[in-house]
Amino acid sequence: MPAPFTLKKLEKTMKPNIITMKSFAKINLSLDVLGKLPDGYHEVEMVLHQIELYDDVSIRLIPDEKGIEVSTNRKYLPRDQRNIAYQAADLMREVGGIREKIRIDIKKRIPVTAGLGGGSGNAASVLLGLNHLLGMKMSLEQLMTHGEKLGSDVVFSLMGQAASHDFLGDEIRRDPKAGICALAKGRGTQLSPLQGIKAYVVLTKPPVGCSTPEIYKLFDKEIVETRPNNQELIDGLRKKNWDLISKNMVNVLENVVFKRYAIAMYTKSKVISLGGAQGILMSGSGPTIYGLYLEEEEARKTYKIMKNELRETFLTQTSVLGYSI
Ligand code: C5P
Repeated sequence: MPAPFTLKKLEKTMKPNIITMKSFAKINLSLDVLGKLPDGYHEVEMVLHQIELYDDVSIRLIPDEKGIEVSTNRKYLPRDQRNIAYQAADLMREVGGIREKIRIDIKKRIPVTAGLGGGSGNAASVLLGLNHLLGMKMSLEQLMTHGEKLGSDVVFSLMGQAASHDFLGDEIRRDPKAGICALAKGRGTQLSPLQGIKAYVVLTKPPVGCSTPEIYKLFDKEIVETRPNNQELIDGLRKKNWDLISKNMVNVLENVVFKRYAIAMYTKSKVISLGGAQGILMSGSGPTIYGLYLEEEEARKTYKIMKNELRETFLTQTSVLGYSI
């Protein structure tokens, strides 16, 4: 005779062992470098905004097996320690004493080495996902402290994803540090949440990959002519004043990348020539160029033309706080 089906057993059977996170990309509305920090990093001041282009990161726990397994739909990406999502799982295994096998499957859409924080987002998904799946009850602050060890952009990704996933629960979602737009200082990890802004976004990536350390190194020899006024930019966001925003959409790494990769400069001038944008800028350490548009029609027009030229072209929107999945 089969054993009676107790409530405890039912709970055990129903406990989910898989979670799928949306690992969003970010754009830089600005990027300024103020100097060098004692640890060799550059001291930055930048405004970051989450956008609705995302990778799917599925995390599954497999009992009675050990280790970490990573798979992605981009065959050229490493699946071992060199993958930042793997490193995030390893870190959580260490701090959380996870015994099961952690299997991570990443469906990538966000271009890689593009200045869009794609890899960092994947790591943030693993941290938030495992914390939730295992009921580890780590606060957003604690996760951010761990995320910082993996990479500077991981911290902002945690902040954005925390605000964008209803199922993570109010403790994480309503944490004062959760949000889809922020001023980032220091290494890029000291974050102050800001009000975001609604816009259509066209992203277009020239077919070159930018190494962040290389671009920062080249920056050291650069004479900066134009810097963003981040305070004015923040004011613009608060007042929804596009003049103030556009004027301060400046990235001091742009010229470095444009000198290294002429195609990035060409891409920006092409997007400018198509018109209709509130602002056009390179994101992060490049080479992705993005434009912000108020009208979907204008954005679609640029998207169609750029998509014909560059395969990695996307039409999306900025994330809005309160949006829930
Ligand atoms: O923090 P993350 O691992 O993404 O940084 C990669 C590299 O980019 C660093 O090792 C450093 O060379 C450079 N970087 C920097 N200053 C920053 C962020 C990154 O010099 N604020």
